[in-house]
Amino acid sequence: MPILGFGVFQVPAEQTEQVVSDALAAGYRSLDTAASYGNEEAVGRAIASSGIPRGDLFVTTKMWIQHTGEDTARREFDLSLRRLGLDYLDLYLIHQPLGDYYSSWHAMEKVYGEGLARAIGVSNFHPDRLVDLMTHNDITPAVNQIETHPFFQRREDQDLMRAHGVRIESWGPFAEGKNDLFTNPTLTEIGAAYGKSVAQVVLRWLIQRDVVVIPKSVRPDRMAENLDVFDFALTDDEMTRIAAMDTGRTAFFDYRDPEMVKWLGGRRVD
Ligand SMILES: NC(=O)c1ccc[n+]([C@@H]2O[C@H](COP(=O)([O-])OP(=O)(O)OC[C@H]3O[C@@H](n4cnc5c(N)ncnc54)[C@H](OP(=O)(O)O)[C@@H]3O)[C@@H](O)[C@H]2O)c1
Repeated sequence: MPILGFGVFQVPAEQTEQVVSDALAAGYRSLDTAASYGNEEAVGRAIASSGIPRGDLFVTTKMWIQHTGEDTARREFDLSLRRLGLDYLDLYLIHQPLGDYYSSWHAMEKVYGEGLARAIGVSNFHPDRLVDLMTHNDITPAVNQIETHPFFQRREDQDLMRAHGVRIESWGPFAEGKNDLFTNPTLTEIGAAYGKSVAQVVLRWLIQRDVVVIPKSVRPDRMAENLDVFDFALTDDEMTRIAAMDTGRTAFFDYRDPEMVKWLGGRRVD
């Protein structure tokens, strides 16, 4: 899968077709959406009107907790395909390690077997959940998409995933700007040496760690900026300075917090 793609979380459905068209025009070829984002149809319209050959694109979507279960998951997969206007997905993910996702995984193994999803994976799985899923099923998730940014770096989780052949994909590479990320002195100083922004330093740092990134922006200037990260390299010393920024804790919420598990489990997306 491409190491750098484009995410559309929190892009309103009515804005998404234009935003994705702009992203494709900027050069993105990997798109990340989810049933729960409510914008799959708009992503599909942008893909259809782009004229870009399907084989040049890498499209990911995700199944929400409400739709876990074997039959439900299969139905939901078909619905996502239809909403996107596609006849296969490049990557289909279980959005959260909640609900009856073991049954979902069986349905996903089938769509993988039928060639309707080129790869299947998970999101927000802590190592224990990931290893348990792998232990009791035939197919290892190709990807685990998890919160990963300078304040929550997931190095040990990544080591475990690498040992099991699971690709780490970052969500929230900029922590959505939390903790004043975009004005962070360390990241600003490192970027200044290369004429690069904080956003570019963060993406470059993740890519050098072999972490797949899918930054989101509704602004074409930032879309272009976030793609322009392949003409410089951070030194070992700079990588170490950024490594020191890790707090080891989520900047958002904990999937092991019972209140959050209850809230997410009750969230309906249609
Ligand atoms: N699996 C999951 O549970 C999960 C959870 C969250 C996200 N995701 C995926 O990961 C993707 C990325 O994460 P995210 O959208 O949460 O957050 P993010 O990419 O860390 O941050 C997006 C924010 O950064 C701003 N931004 C983008 N580029 C910038 C730049 N160059 N300079 C300054 N500000 C910039 C954006 O503002 P503007 O749009 O105004 O430019 C937006 O406010 C999502 O879109 C989604 O596809 C998955």
